Amino acid sequence: MMTQTAQAPKLADDKFRTIRDLIYEKSGMYFGDGKKYLMESRLARRLVARGLKTYDEYYYFLKYDPKRAEEINRLFDEITINETSFFRNPPQLEAFGKKILPGIVADKEKSGARNLRIWSAGCSSGEEPYTLGIYILEALKFSLPKWKVEIHASDLSKEILQKAKNGVYGDNALRNTAPSYQSRYFVQVNGMYAIRDEVKKLVRFQQINLTDKVKMRSMRGMDVIFCRNVLIYFDMESKKQVIAHFYDNLNPGGYLFIGHSESLHGVSKAFKLVHFPKAMVYQKA
Ligand SMILES: C[S@@+](CC[C@H](N)C(=O)[O-])C[C@H]1O[C@@H](n2cnc3c(N)ncnc32)[C@H](O)[C@@H]1O
Repeated sequence: MMTQTAQAPKLADDKFRTIRDLIYEKSGMYFGDGKKYLMESRLARRLVARGLKTYDEYYYFLKYDPKRAEEINRLFDEITINETSFFRNPPQLEAFGKKILPGIVADKEKSGARNLRIWSAGCSSGEEPYTLGIYILEALKFSLPKWKVEIHASDLSKEILQKAKNGVYGDNALRNTAPSYQSRYFVQVNGMYAIRDEVKKLVRFQQINLTDKVKMRSMRGMDVIFCRNVLIYFDMESKKQVIAHFYDNLNPGGYLFIGHSESLHGVSKAFKLVHFPKAMVYQKA
C-alpha cells in the first residue's frame, strides 16, 4: 500500500525556498535550508490532501486560491511543533507561583485593583495556561471570588487550540504533575485526565498569530506574559517585533517568561533581568 506522502513529488530546493519564504511572511517562523527534510514530509501531506501534483501548484494554491486562508491554517497545524506538558520547567513556574504572583497580588490588594491579566502566548494544547490557573487558584484560595482573573491563551494552530479547549490529557502530559495536584485539579475519565472546571473557566483561548500587529495591539494591560519555546523558529527581525509588542502589552513592572534556554540577547534591551533560583525572568522596567 502506498503511503500518502509517497504520492508526492520530491521537493526541489528552489520550491522549498519559495514555500518557506511564504511561511515566514505569514507566521514569522523561519525554516533554514537545513530544515528542508523536516519540512518535506509535512508539505507533502498537504499537497496530497489538496489533490495537487506539484509544489508550484501548492504554492499558487497558498497564494491565490479562494480557500487559501483555510489552507494556510492547515499548513500551520502541520508544521508547528507543539511539544509541551503541565508544570514544564518547574523552577520558572515556582518563580511565578511562589514569588512573582504573591507580589502582584499583594500590590493589587493595596491598590484595591483586584484583577489579574496573564497571557500564555503560544499555548499549544493548553497545559501551560492551565498550569498557571492552578498556581493562581493556589495563591488566591478563598479570596478568589473577590478577584477578576483572566488567563488569555493563544496559539497559531487552530487544531491545537481545539485540543486545548477540550482539556483532556494522557499520562505523558501530566508527567511533571504532583499527585496532590492530579487529584485536586483533574478528573479521571477512561484512563485520561480532564482538567476541572474551576481551572478551565479561568482560561480564554483564541487564535493569535504573533506576527499579526493588529491582534498583538489588542492584548494590552498584562501583568505577566509567558511565551516559552515559541520564538525558537523565528528569525531575529520577527523576534524583535514580537518582543517589542510584549513590552507594550505589559503593565509597568510586568514580567515576561521565555523558554529557559532562550534569551533576549541581541533582541531587546528594554527589560531588566531578574534572577530566581534556577530561573531568570524579564521585567518591564
Ligand atoms: C513548543 S510549543 C510551546 C508550548 C508552551 N509555551 C510550552 O513552552 O510548553 C510552541 C507553540 O508555538 C506556536 N506558534 C508557533 N508560531 C507561532 C506564531 N507565529 N503565532 C502564535 N503561535 C505560534 C505553535 O503552534 C506551538 O503550539
